[in-house]
Amino acid sequence: MTNPVIFETHGRIGVLRMNNPPVNALSPAAVAGLIEGFAAFEADASLQALLLHCEGRTFVAGGDISSFDLADFSTAPFNNFLARLEQSARPVVAALHGTVLGGGLELAMACHYRLALPGTRVGLPEVKLGLIPGSLGTQRLPRLAGVALALDLIQSGRMLDAARALEAGIVDVVCEGDALKLGLAYAESLLAAPARRSSERPVSQAGIAPDFFATALAAAHKKPAYPALAAAVRCVQAAAELPFAQGEQVEAREFELLRPSATSRALRHLFFAERQVSKIPGLAKDVVLRKIASVGVVGAGTMGGGIAMNFANVGIPVVIVEATDEALQRGLGLVRKNYEASAAKGKLSAQQLAQRLSLLTGSLDYAALANCDMVIEAVFENMDLKRQICANLGQICKAGAIIATNTSTLDVDELAAATGRAADVVGMHFFSPANVMRLLEVVRGAQTAPEVLATVMKIAGVIGKVAVVSGVCYGFIGNRMAEVYMREAEFLLLEGAQPRQIDRAVEALGMAMGPCRMLDMAGIDVGAKTVIERDKAGGLPPDPNYRVLVRKLFELGRFGQKTLAGYYRYEGRTPLPDPLVTKICVALAAQYGIERRSDITDQEIVERLLYPLINEGALILSEGIAYRGADIDMVWVAGYGFPDHRGGPLFMADEIGLTKIVERMAAYASQRGHAFGYWTASELLKTLAEQGKRLSDYAAA
Ligand code: COA
Repeated sequence: MTNPVIFETHGRIGVLRMNNPPVNALSPAAVAGLIEGFAAFEADASLQALLLHCEGRTFVAGGDISSFDLADFSTAPFNNFLARLEQSARPVVAALHGTVLGGGLELAMACHYRLALPGTRVGLPEVKLGLIPGSLGTQRLPRLAGVALALDLIQSGRMLDAARALEAGIVDVVCEGDALKLGLAYAESLLAAPARRSSERPVSQAGIAPDFFATALAAAHKKPAYPALAAAVRCVQAAAELPFAQGEQVEAREFELLRPSATSRALRHLFFAERQVSKIPGLAKDVVLRKIASVGVVGAGTMGGGIAMNFANVGIPVVIVEATDEALQRGLGLVRKNYEASAAKGKLSAQQLAQRLSLLTGSLDYAALANCDMVIEAVFENMDLKRQICANLGQICKAGAIIATNTSTLDVDELAAATGRAADVVGMHFFSPANVMRLLEVVRGAQTAPEVLATVMKIAGVIGKVAVVSGVCYGFIGNRMAEVYMREAEFLLLEGAQPRQIDRAVEALGMAMGPCRMLDMAGIDVGAKTVIERDKAGGLPPDPNYRVLVRKLFELGRFGQKTLAGYYRYEGRTPLPDPLVTKICVALAAQYGIERRSDITDQEIVERLLYPLINEGALILSEGIAYRGADIDMVWVAGYGFPDHRGGPLFMADEIGLTKIVERMAAYASQRGHAFGYWTASELLKTLAEQGKRLSDYAAA
């Protein structure tokens, strides 16, 4: 391995050059290199200034996140180095470019002067990892930028561009050109300048109210799942009120409490999960991607319209095909309204609005799809209809075009076969609203060509989605797991739990919405039809009680929020308990011989909803439907409102302990019976539990 830091001299200037691809993260070796290089500078009295410069796409983009888990992790070597760097009697200059984040900005702030290229962005994003900056960022930033902006940046993790950073006093000059050359010239100009130390500056409390910190702390305490928010307040307050050395101790204490915290470990897991999901095992690196310069969408419903917006948003023209003019105009009208609402909120300029609308066209003729590079069918979930459309697309689409289906449950291989060109076919399961939700499940069919899969993963990134590959099975990764969760929710309702108790129990974990509210919002009709279709296809377990409630509510026209009645009754959008639903549950329980109980606890609800879901995740892994545990966690966090501070269902399972989950599954099996395998722990879950391994780290061999 090449040395990540080299020290060289350019006339009177010593240069510490870092080259630690891809983002010059501060690995232990990089820190050691900085320390060694600085010692060489200190030893050479002929040098009059020091310049820090990074090779590649960015100045240091942060501490090495993967090293935060190491048993011997310590900020001390780097922090001591920063202190020595700042204490240098000779001027120390940083030449910044790229994304100067976390430890990178902390390094820059310990330098005496900072020059930035115009495209530079700076920030302290540690909060996104459940942390605060641990290398004096909380102490130096308030001294450079003032208390209010510093706290804002540390709590939000947002970046400032070079112009804003200049205005805020975080950088001293912005100029265009080569960072090394500019840095050397800047250092030359500062040879006689004093060493200007951030830590010695007073902290500006300009413009802050007397109760600024108390208010900020109270706001932070409202989000107890994210303890870094309150820690940030305490650190910035220490910066404002205590000498630097004491503030340093406050920060060190807070950082060390947060680093091993469940929230931070969960968020770090997701940081790497999000980057891992795009890597497809076995896919050759040199696979030649297909070009996607135009897209077709079949179906102008909510889904089709939302899907189309994704492409128009990034400048790709889209043609939407519908069966009737009325449906087409309704769909296009909805898209227009959506864009106009964004423009009214100031999120889009008039010019952007016009440009996006101009990229969207409608047609009643499939021939309009003939020249598209990719066509996505987004008609409603019905096998016969989708098969028919896929057959049409197989005929009409040009050679080399990708044909995608937005099915959420159906067999992609069957649809692929209908096109007569299965290698071109892939599933693209968007989540509603498709222009907002980050998740995209990319369903790899048995025959999907590698370059088709790779192209779709790439285009998913272009439209800003987190794309996770799933194999073909009922419901793919997300809906297959959601099905067992809904199954248990309904059983609990029949046994005597109330919708509100169920929702509250899982919402207390941080889920965005409990299952009853979720299905009421998504539409009981949609949920029930999926169950009915699956029943017709012979896919349901031979359990007469299986999801009888959702089918009953559907039969009664209780479609959820849109009919103001579902699991709840609604006043506007407010869900209220509905005694009628209890009556329906009592009647169904009697009909199916289910005993009603009054002793259902929140703990039972959580275990019964989540443990089978986790077990289903383990089955999905052992069947090779998902490549990695991390992929499953990403699906749930990006698409199903699973709390990020729990790292996804599999990470949460690891935190609970797989042995405990296996034991509880066995306990429920003996309580509720072994029928239909509902409570049979998967072999993978049992094996990992026995071996003391983690499900969220699991990757198929
Ligand atoms: N530590 C370790 N690895 C890091 C890293 C860090 N701080 N920042 C990025 N990486 C790795 C990524 O895991 C990825 O690795 P891979 O190619 O093996 O998957 C690679 O660097 C490129 O990162 P990616 O995010 O894919 O590139 P990008 O150009 O989209 O974004 C950044 C670059 C720097 C903006 C982004 O990676 C980022 O925000 N990093 C975290 C910065 C941070 O939080 N710093 C503070 C840490 S205390």
